[in-house]
Amino acid sequence: MQITKLPTNKRANRANDQLERLVNSLIRAADRTKSTVGLSGRKAPYDDHGYEFMGGANDRLRRQHYDKSLRLLWKAEDQAPYLPFQDATRAERDLMDMATRSLTPEEQAARQALSAPEFKAQLNRDYSTRQKQAIVNILSAIGHGEAYAWLVSAELLAHVKSTGARAALTMQVLEEAKHFVVLRELIQSFDVPVPRLSIWEYLLLESTYKAKGLDKFFGMNVVVEGIALSLFGMMSHFPGLEVLRLFHLDESRHTALPVNYFKDFPLTKWQRKNPAAKLRRLKIILPALLLIPLLEEDLAEVGIDAFDFGGSVLRKITHLSVRAGFELTPSPETLLPLLSKLFNGYCKLTRPGHTHRDFLASDTSIGEEVLAVEREALGHVETHSAA
Ligand SMILES: [Fe+2]
Ligand SMILES: [Fe+2]
Repeated sequence: MQITKLPTNKRANRANDQLERLVNSLIRAADRTKSTVGLSGRKAPYDDHGYEFMGGANDRLRRQHYDKSLRLLWKAEDQAPYLPFQDATRAERDLMDMATRSLTPEEQAARQALSAPEFKAQLNRDYSTRQKQAIVNILSAIGHGEAYAWLVSAELLAHVKSTGARAALTMQVLEEAKHFVVLRELIQSFDVPVPRLSIWEYLLLESTYKAKGLDKFFGMNVVVEGIALSLFGMMSHFPGLEVLRLFHLDESRHTALPVNYFKDFPLTKWQRKNPAAKLRRLKIILPALLLIPLLEEDLAEVGIDAFDFGGSVLRKITHLSVRAGFELTPSPETLLPLLSKLFNGYCKLTRPGHTHRDFLASDTSIGEEVLAVEREALGHVETHSAA
C-alpha cells in the first residue's frame, strides 16, 4: 500500500503541541491539588500514563474471570431454543444446523419439539399445575434476585481497582443481564402467576444494594450468589430446567470473585473485623434465614426438604464468607451448631415424630458435574483451572 505524506505547517504544529503541554500541566496540576484536598478533581480512576486503570493490570484476575467468562459464554438460542432469543452468531447457528442434521430422525423430532411451543406442552406433561407453581415460586425468588445482581454488579464496577478486576466485573454485569432476561422467559413459559419478592428477600436484596463500597461483595457475591448457586445446583436436573446448569456455572465464578480480588487488594483488618461491619453482615443473613420456612411448602411439593436446602446454603455461605475474609459474628463455629439447633427446634414443633438431623451437613446440589463445579468454587476458589 502506497502512503503519501501530506505537507503541514511545522510552526503551527509546534505551537499546538506547546499549547497542549501547557494546558495539560495546568489542568492536571489543578486536578491533582483538588483531589489531594478532597475536592472533585479527576473523576475517572484511570491512569493514562500507565495505560491502566488505578490498581494496575491484574492480568491474573482478568484471565480467571474475564477470559474464562468469554470462553464459557453461552447463548440462549443454542441452549434453550424454546425461548424467544436470537443471540447466536451465524457460525453458532450453522453449527446448530449441522448438529441437528447429524441426529437420527427421532432425535431431530425431539429437538424440533423443544424448539417449538411444544416446550410448554412438555412442561404440562412433566408437572402438575401445583408442581409448576411450586417451581415458579422457588425460581422467581432467584429471578428477582438476578435483577438486583445486575444492579449491584454494575455499581461494584465503580469500586474495584485494576484493569483485570474491572474486566471481571464487566463480565458479571453482562452475565447477570443474561440471567435476568433468560430466567424471566423460562419462568414465564410455565404459564402460572409469578409471585412478588417475599419481604425477607426484599430486605436481603435492598440491604445488599444499599451496602457501601466493597461491602456489596458480601451481600451479593457471598450471600445472594451462594443462595443462587445452591438453588441452581438443586434444580438443574428437573425436566425442562437443564439450562440452569449454565447459570450454576456462571454463579460459581461470581462466588469466587471476592476471594480472588482480595488476594491483590486485601480488606484491611478493620474492614474484616470491626463490630459494626460484622453486625451489618448479620443483618444481611438474618432475613435469608426466614426464607427457609417460607419456601418449605413449595420445596416439599417437588420433594425437597427446606431445611436440607437451608443447611446446605448456610454451610456454603459461611465457608465463602470466611475465605473472602468477611468475618462473622457469631463465628461459623458457633453459628452453624446454633442454626442446627434452631432448625431442629422448629421441626420438632411443626413435624410430628421429628428426630434430630444434621441439616447443616446436607447437600441438595445434584449431579456429578454440578458437584464438581461447586467443589472448585468452594474449595480451591481459583477458577482458572477448570474448563
Ligand atoms: Fe446471576
Ligand atoms: Fe451472579
